[in-house]
Amino acid sequence: MSLHKALQGHKREKVERLKLVMLDGVPFLDLTQLNWEKVKNFHSLPDDLLIASYPKAGTTWVQEIVDMVLNDGDVDKCKRAPVYDRIPFLEIVEPKPLPSGLDQIANLTPPRVIKTHLPFQLVPNSFWEQNCKAIYIARNGKDNLVSYYHFDLMNKEQPDPGTWEQYILKFLEGNVAWGSWFDHVKSWWTGKDKHRILFLFYEDIKENPKREICKLSQFLGKDLSKDILDRIVHYTSFEVMKKNPMANYSTIPTFLFDNKVSPFMRKGQVGNWKEHFTIAQNEIFDEYYHRNLADTSLTFRFQM
Ligand code: A3P
Repeated sequence: MSLHKALQGHKREKVERLKLVMLDGVPFLDLTQLNWEKVKNFHSLPDDLLIASYPKAGTTWVQEIVDMVLNDGDVDKCKRAPVYDRIPFLEIVEPKPLPSGLDQIANLTPPRVIKTHLPFQLVPNSFWEQNCKAIYIARNGKDNLVSYYHFDLMNKEQPDPGTWEQYILKFLEGNVAWGSWFDHVKSWWTGKDKHRILFLFYEDIKENPKREICKLSQFLGKDLSKDILDRIVHYTSFEVMKKNPMANYSTIPTFLFDNKVSPFMRKGQVGNWKEHFTIAQNEIFDEYYHRNLADTSLTFRFQM
């Protein structure tokens, strides 16, 4: 059964906030451990495509772009189901009787597109053994942090973020679900040359969506016309996606995603962090940033 259908028949009106549990050295939502061995032993197919990211880096944006590219810009086809059913989330485990990501993937007809927030080293080996393609989307850590904070406030299953002040330290120390943003982006940056991985930046798509969508299409072996590319740019813009129930998560009941606290499609900006960080908080972030990314060639744009 699709998650959407299961949610519609779901009577629960309140959920408990989940705790974190360490799995192979990374904190995850505790329900994740129920499927952990199955996730690690996941059987990929050669034409599986993985969309990977740190939470709140623009995953849904790339999911929508990929679905539109694979469907040659056919808007109606891309509205066949909510994005979380079209492109299921590999390691997610929902409270029973809701289907897990693995249950949803079992319902897909190949070629399958699968979402994950796993850091590179925890991606099931079979993806690489099957030579699958993967797209990683990375976002500058300050905007990523702000987005994750608001998400943790509105998503009633995520651990309580605490105050803004407390949350910043949790994020910087990696004490949040899926662990350290620094470790995550570094893991994929160093892993990207080992396999067929396209590494994209949120800021680049924002700056020039057509250029980045073109790059993504070529990576997927799709040669799309200018008209189709223009259509995809339009339908995957923040403004249009925000109004699209199949892309904006408004189909998730409010006891899970409380849109009044914060909508899923919140701001969609580069540089929104400036409205949240104090000067001192910005300095602390910069200190962590330089310490953690100094040994890599990975750099982020914090404004445009
Ligand atoms: P904000 O909270 O900063 O608005 P994810 O899909 O990984 O959970 O990421 C969600 C973030 O991506 C949210 O960021 C959301 O608004 C943003 N986003 C989603 N679709 C977008 C789009 N079409 N353009 C720009 N940002 C988008």
